Amino acid sequence: MKTKVICPGSFDPLTLGHIDIITRASKMFDHVVVGVLNNLAKTPSFTTEERIQLLRKSTEGISNIEIVGFDGLLADYTRENGITAIVKGLRAVSDFEYEFQQALTNKKLNPELETVFLTSSSDFMYLSSSIVKQVASLGGDIGSFVPECVHDEI
Ligand code: PNS
Repeated sequence: MKTKVICPGSFDPLTLGHIDIITRASKMFDHVVVGVLNNLAKTPSFTTEERIQLLRKSTEGISNIEIVGFDGLLADYTRENGITAIVKGLRAVSDFEYEFQQALTNKKLNPELETVFLTSSSDFMYLSSSIVKQVASLGGDIGSFVPECVHDEI
């Protein structure tokens, strides 16, 4: 049986840390869906369509990947699309509580669904979309934080 998983996130903007997790997931599973979602706790800087296009450009070399955008519950999307697991990156202890809460909520909403965490590469432990936005808004160089097309766009 083929394993179909999802890497969900707001990707606002996409960082090299996201690319690292997506690339590693694509080597572990048969098919990886990257879900561009809206985090209701955040106001996005990029539209969903812009985030999808930047993800498509940045993952051109990966063959078993599909980029989608959707509204609604992640648990419902996985059930309706034959997805067996959520794959997320875990950077530090500070991520754990938030990620654990989401994993348990998703499990309650869809008991068939697992959440798998990949430890972040040490190169990207410190990196987050909000740090990128902060550095960019103050005129700093974000060239080593994001894919080239995201750098150009920002
Ligand atoms: O990159 P982020 O902002 O940490 O991603 C969070 C995201 C978008 C994966 C999360 O907010 C989410 O799953 N949103 C979809 C709505 C949903 O299913 N909410 C309940 C899950 S806790």
